[in-house]
Amino acid sequence: MSLMRAESLSRRFGGLLAVDGASLEVPEGGLIGLIGPNGAGKTTLFALLSGFLTPSAGRVDFAGADVTAEPPHRRAVRGMARTFQIVQPFAGLTVRENIAVGAYLRHPARRDAIRSAEAVAEEVGLGPMLDAQAAALTVAGRKRLELARALATEPRLLLLDEVLAGLNPSEVRDIIPVIRTIRERGVAILMIEHVMQAVMNLCDHVHVLAGGRMIASGPPQVVTADPRVIEAYLGHGAAARIAAGSAHA
Ligand SMILES: Nc1ncnc2c1ncn2[C@@H]1O[C@H](COP(=O)(O)OP(=O)(O)OP(=O)(O)O)[C@@H](O)[C@H]1O
Ligand SMILES: [Mg+2]
Repeated sequence: MSLMRAESLSRRFGGLLAVDGASLEVPEGGLIGLIGPNGAGKTTLFALLSGFLTPSAGRVDFAGADVTAEPPHRRAVRGMARTFQIVQPFAGLTVRENIAVGAYLRHPARRDAIRSAEAVAEEVGLGPMLDAQAAALTVAGRKRLELARALATEPRLLLLDEVLAGLNPSEVRDIIPVIRTIRERGVAILMIEHVMQAVMNLCDHVHVLAGGRMIASGPPQVVTADPRVIEAYLGHGAAARIAAGSAHA
């Protein structure tokens, strides 16, 4: 069953159609990838899905309701949470307090919010850092904190915008099982990701956005071998050059 369905979403910025008639679906409990070259419109599409931007055209349904006109906090109450590509923790607060900001959505009493924040910190591997100032975290720690803040709202759907960007290969390897565990307890995930190793490892299904349009969609192995996708990443004629190269190998 579909948890979220976006239909023909568009968003114009002046003369630029940053998202152009994009549709996608996230099934209940699914783990779906959204890939595409820089500037493709991926983050803009996330903003439309989560309510931070209103679409110029199109519609978003979530958990059986039309949420197209709803602001982010209403969608959060329904169970949608996102992370931000540019992470901005409250630098002067501790890790515990930062995560609690998310937890207050379901736990208005401070003691409950803190307890819930501590459980989320354990889940994402920030347990030992609960008392640290957010500003003291490494890049990898901040990415985990961003994930934790979204997770603390107890979402049914988590939108992850490049949570692996800026991490080294061993940090990427460490966080992949965290994402898999979140999914295994029933949270659906839509992830924007440039780290292909993670996309191949984690995703059931991948959508490819280029120039604001969905150009391909399917299982990761199929999509990444699709000549249209290779061309979108590497430029016109790239698929043919690669095919010719492998024929000579
Ligand atoms: N608020 C805005 N006002 C004007 N143009 C914008 C705005 N936000 C994004 N854009 C433009 O829309 C296009 C899509 O940007 P977006 O950030 O959605 O791409 P992206 O796929 O997330 O890229 P990246 O992989 O680099 O994060 C870009 O050309 C960008 O400059
Ligand atoms: Mg982006």
